[in-house]
Amino acid sequence: MNEAFHRIYGARPDGIWAAPGRVNLIGEHTDYNDGFALPIAIPQRTLVAARRRRDGRLRLHSAQAGGPVIDLRPADLVPGVTTTWGAYPAGVLWALREAGHRVGGADLHIDSTVPTGAGLSSSAALECAVAFALADLYGLALDAPALALLAQRAENGFAGVPCGVMDQMASACCTVGAALHLDVRAGVHEQVPFAPEAGGMTLLVVDTRVKHDLGDGAYAALRAGCERAAALLGLAALRDLTPAELPRATRALPARLVPLVQHVVTENARVAEAVAHLRAGDPAALGPILSRGHASLRDDFRISCAESDLVVDTALAHGALGARMTGGGFGGSVIVLAEESATRTLGAAVTAAFGAAGYQAPHLFPVSPSAGARRIA
Ligand code: GLA
Repeated sequence: MNEAFHRIYGARPDGIWAAPGRVNLIGEHTDYNDGFALPIAIPQRTLVAARRRRDGRLRLHSAQAGGPVIDLRPADLVPGVTTTWGAYPAGVLWALREAGHRVGGADLHIDSTVPTGAGLSSSAALECAVAFALADLYGLALDAPALALLAQRAENGFAGVPCGVMDQMASACCTVGAALHLDVRAGVHEQVPFAPEAGGMTLLVVDTRVKHDLGDGAYAALRAGCERAAALLGLAALRDLTPAELPRATRALPARLVPLVQHVVTENARVAEAVAHLRAGDPAALGPILSRGHASLRDDFRISCAESDLVVDTALAHGALGARMTGGGFGGSVIVLAEESATRTLGAAVTAAFGAAGYQAPHLFPVSPSAGARRIA
């Protein structure tokens, strides 16, 4: 990173920061309903080498995007001006300034191992790495959750994606060997020990290579549907509905909103169930919860796709403990929890099934709960 930075900007960086991508174990499309989620950070991460600038400008370079340095003047830091990948780091600087923090400019060089469009939160990793870098460079007393909220603000207000806060919280706050139990309404999180390898298990990520894009309107429509349902029920958010109240609530709603509510309410309950099993030292018990979560996303929320369903069905047919699509949906990645001894055959079966179906070969890799955003040099 130092050499690349020097080559691009002709100087040494002041430091290097890292922020990971994530997979969510359970609790999908619950964050913007004020609910619960249980993500882990993955080893794939985004690095940012950064140096302060006195003139307020933001210069950006990415090893993956290549191309010339993007040079943004303070007047460019308004929503809508930058529409490329640069909107994410630019949005972070905008969000910090908008929140009243005194932040000058910076030169940034970015390099990442988080695949883009794979539902692994590459954008949150980028935002969080930049947020941590700028906060350190300018001596801001902001903790990890505060930086996560600013990163989300960047994505909502600058990049124009109406996401919840799960991805940014995961990237900012996760720790090695634990899942992050998020309570979005309360604004609190706790680390719940999760070490699949210690129990002889593997958590496998299968990137279906079906590119998902949160900005394409489908995500916003789902969010709007959930918010409409809560409003019709006279609730602040779907978080306020319990499973016992579901039958009465669904009778009061238009048919198109019922499956959305059904998913969110049962999904919040699945998070609680999963956390209880982890706390009891029984990570294998997550398996059926993951699979039930997938069925709910496929049948009620309707955001799975043929490729993700094929991964889940094939993995379960070859002995997986559980499997589900993870993230926003419409493609992206699936997580599979399996006994370590079953992982190889199961992975081969998934790849073979993709070949037989004429799909592009999936990308499979094991993950373990990894570190959240931090300065590394
Ligand atoms: C995306 C969003 C998150 C969350 C998930 C679905 O990853 O960025 O805020 O809503 O989808 O759980």
